[in-house]
Amino acid sequence: MAEAFDSETAPAKINLALHVRKRRADGYHELETLFAFAKDGDELNVEAAPDISLSLTGPFAQSLATDADNLVLRAAHRLADASGVRAGAQMRLTKNLPIASGIGGGSADAAAALRMLNRFWRLDWDVARLLPIAEELGADVPACLVGKSCIGRGRGDALHLLDQTELSGAPLLLVNPLKPVSTAEIFARWDGTDRGQMPQGSDRDILLQGRNDLQPVAVALLPEIADLLAALETQAGEGLARMSGSGATCFAILDSLYKRDQAAQHTARKFPGYWIFPTHVA
Ligand code: C5P
Repeated sequence: MAEAFDSETAPAKINLALHVRKRRADGYHELETLFAFAKDGDELNVEAAPDISLSLTGPFAQSLATDADNLVLRAAHRLADASGVRAGAQMRLTKNLPIASGIGGGSADAAAALRMLNRFWRLDWDVARLLPIAEELGADVPACLVGKSCIGRGRGDALHLLDQTELSGAPLLLVNPLKPVSTAEIFARWDGTDRGQMPQGSDRDILLQGRNDLQPVAVALLPEIADLLAALETQAGEGLARMSGSGATCFAILDSLYKRDQAAQHTARKFPGYWIFPTHVA
């Protein structure tokens, strides 16, 4: 028996640091990354229905298709097959986050679908049982399923929860020039140089001392990312602004709501037409 309706947030994911260590034979790259999550993101709703279906709404709905490749539908069908559940799910996704933007997007939506349908279909599987399905759906989906600050190794899907978090609740600004970037292309353009392991410590230490090795690769394709990062760093302070994932979204961690909102206003004036999303670190 399914519940009558349910909903789930698909928070934006950020990589506070992302160190690319080597190319693998399977086409993926060996990583060390620190994932963190925003409080806000896409929203997913579900109502009881005989079949599994998905409709889209929200500012970025037009950039997505609801075909068989859609990660929310793939997640729903995989969970239905794996659990043998007979109920359907009429889902609606409010797409607030730009697509192909380095902040999880489809991975966050797929993870939210797994969490939501796990409740809605009253499966009550624990996270460990959902993780293999998440891994099949994409390298970032396991981290998005867990939804807490964690270190990812391997493809980014061998996860360890972080012991020391200092950034929880910190004001966060996400900015994107609204040019989609292909993750596969950015990884393919990485120069193959191992620049060293990710530092240890709290999330703040790793942010301040770490790097995103995909940042110079993305800047070479989209030089405007460098201007955006320079502006965000001026607002946030040195080391507190970086590109997330394969880009092009850049984030800044600010030390007060006032400074975050000032940074948002400044960015909107300097970069008209950019997507600007003020939120918090979860
Ligand atoms: O797993 P996902 O489909 O999200 O990854 C998208 C693409 O990003 C992969 O096909 C691969 O080209 C690249 N990738 C990679 N190494 C990783 C994660 C992703 O090369 N660790």
